[in-house]
Amino acid sequence: MLVLGIETSCDETAVALYDSDRGLLADRLYSQIAMHAEYGGVVPELAARDHIRKLVPLIREMLEESGFSLQDVGGVAYTRGPGLAGALLVGASMGQALAMGLGVPAVGVHHMEGHLLAPMLEESQPQFPFLALLVSGGHTLLADVAGPGEYKILGESLDDAVGEAFDKTAKLLGLSYPGGPSVAKEAEQGQAGRFKFPRPMTDRPGLDFSFSGLKTFTLTTARKLEEKEHKLTDQSRADIALAFQEAATDTLLIKSRRALQQTGYDQLVVAGGVGANKTLRQKLNQIAEQENISVYFPRPEFCTDNGAMIAYVGCLRLQAGESEDMAVAVKPRWKISELKPPGKI
Ligand code: KG4
Ligand code: ZN
Repeated sequence: MLVLGIETSCDETAVALYDSDRGLLADRLYSQIAMHAEYGGVVPELAARDHIRKLVPLIREMLEESGFSLQDVGGVAYTRGPGLAGALLVGASMGQALAMGLGVPAVGVHHMEGHLLAPMLEESQPQFPFLALLVSGGHTLLADVAGPGEYKILGESLDDAVGEAFDKTAKLLGLSYPGGPSVAKEAEQGQAGRFKFPRPMTDRPGLDFSFSGLKTFTLTTARKLEEKEHKLTDQSRADIALAFQEAATDTLLIKSRRALQQTGYDQLVVAGGVGANKTLRQKLNQIAEQENISVYFPRPEFCTDNGAMIAYVGCLRLQAGESEDMAVAVKPRWKISELKPPGKI
């Protein structure tokens, strides 16, 4: 079955074609970053309007370039949630309308399930069950994954998501949006050891996270330096970015290690935007080698939002017989633990 996937939950318009036999056949993405950068973050109404402008041309371009036509499509998958309501509605209504016009089924996909299963688009894939570390702009969680749709949350952030902490750190350092890649780039110039930031909640048992204290620590350090230096020097900015990135990635590492011990699993899947962070990837690869476990990441462009992960999950669920009636209903808030295995709705 050839599935057209549509992702419009936030600031990327993304589409893909995934086939149950042939795998990923095409994917295209239009990023709204330049438009939102002016405002220092995503403006929901502008995001929705831009999805309307870009979605149809993007689908057309992808079909033309890959040599497929809409008539080849056997099912449509769109992101149903979580995400920005207006942005989600654009993908949902387009997905439903296309499916109706083509006489094929449509399914609404959970965005975080898309992220979590994105490593399945790579050549080397994990086997169920495994441990997943999901790190994005809105979520930070560790899950025991028994199979598709069977997610038991072992720990999650009690306040800010780690991606959000990267974004806020970037803002307070005067770096551009989106914050994650900017902080990572700035950290490359940083000198190790000048600051030691806390690794929150690692000194007590449990698998929950908290990143708001780390964000406040970063802010206080920056303000103190600003008083001393009048204006933060380039070196100080880079040193703070490095100290923050070290603390955030170490925290993820410590908790993932603890969760591996607790579950006894020897496979760790890392997904979501922060999974593109090079330092995090290096550190996780290191513990994988030391402790004889396997770590699976999607390629960096499939860590951040993309259409391929939505087409993939949609294909799993459509093949299991799931489909939706024509109502265009999105779920801006939706817990991944509420999901059921494909076909078991
Ligand atoms: O998964 P994603 O694209 O969207 C959500 O579902 O939230 O994740 C976006 C988040 C943002 O907070 C962004 O700053 C962060 O992922 N991010 C990074 C990197 N690339 C993206 N954080 C750290 N290092 C990166 N290289
Ligand atoms: Zn995402």
